[in-house]
Amino acid sequence: MQADIRLLTPEDLSLLREFWIQHWGADFMIVHGDTIRYDEVEGFVFGEWKGLLTFQVRGEGCEVTSLDSLEEGKGIGTALMNEVIREAKKHGCRRLFLSTTNDNLNALRFYQKFGFELCALRRGAIAETRKLKPSIPLIGMNGIPLRDELELEMNLP
Ligand SMILES: CC(C)(COP(=O)(O)OP(=O)(O)OC[C@H]1O[C@@H](n2cnc3c(N)ncnc32)[C@H](O)[C@@H]1OP(=O)(O)O)[C@@H](O)C(=O)NCCC(=O)NCCS
Repeated sequence: MQADIRLLTPEDLSLLREFWIQHWGADFMIVHGDTIRYDEVEGFVFGEWKGLLTFQVRGEGCEVTSLDSLEEGKGIGTALMNEVIREAKKHGCRRLFLSTTNDNLNALRFYQKFGFELCALRRGAIAETRKLKPSIPLIGMNGIPLRDELELEMNLP
């Protein structure tokens, strides 16, 4: 698995932008009220863009800003997550964190099984996000109203 993963380079920027637009509806993410542009993140790509994880390191924290696996259940998400942990430790980070939405039961299961713990609820946050990203549906995955942001974290030894 690990051999198929590489760090993004500046040459990947236009493909990263396309990937985010295709999978997340825009070339930016909005998390905890902040706008994170595609050219402000680092990342790992799995194989021929079968998986992508982006992140930002700030001080002792590393935030996963996006994670996508296009072939689910084969260990791609796990491999990318292990890679960002290695990278975060290299930077001296003590905390890895990320946000997801209340409807994304698959992600909530994946992250908690991986070892993340819930640490914050931003109730109703998606209404604000939707003002900047009107493509976000009212009903999200699993037929669940898409409303809240949930933050999960993991301490890095
Ligand atoms: C959440 C997501 C990233 C998980 O990625 P994934 O590639 O399916 O993850 P993995 O294959 O590593 O793990 C998923 C399952 O496969 C299992 N698995 C299968 N083969 C595996 C392997 N070789 N190694 C590790 N786990 C494996 C895992 O145990 C896990 O089991 P579970 O279904 O009981 O939880 C993926 O579902 C996804 O891209 N979702 C859409 C985008 C999204 O919602 N991203 C998160 C936004 S916050």
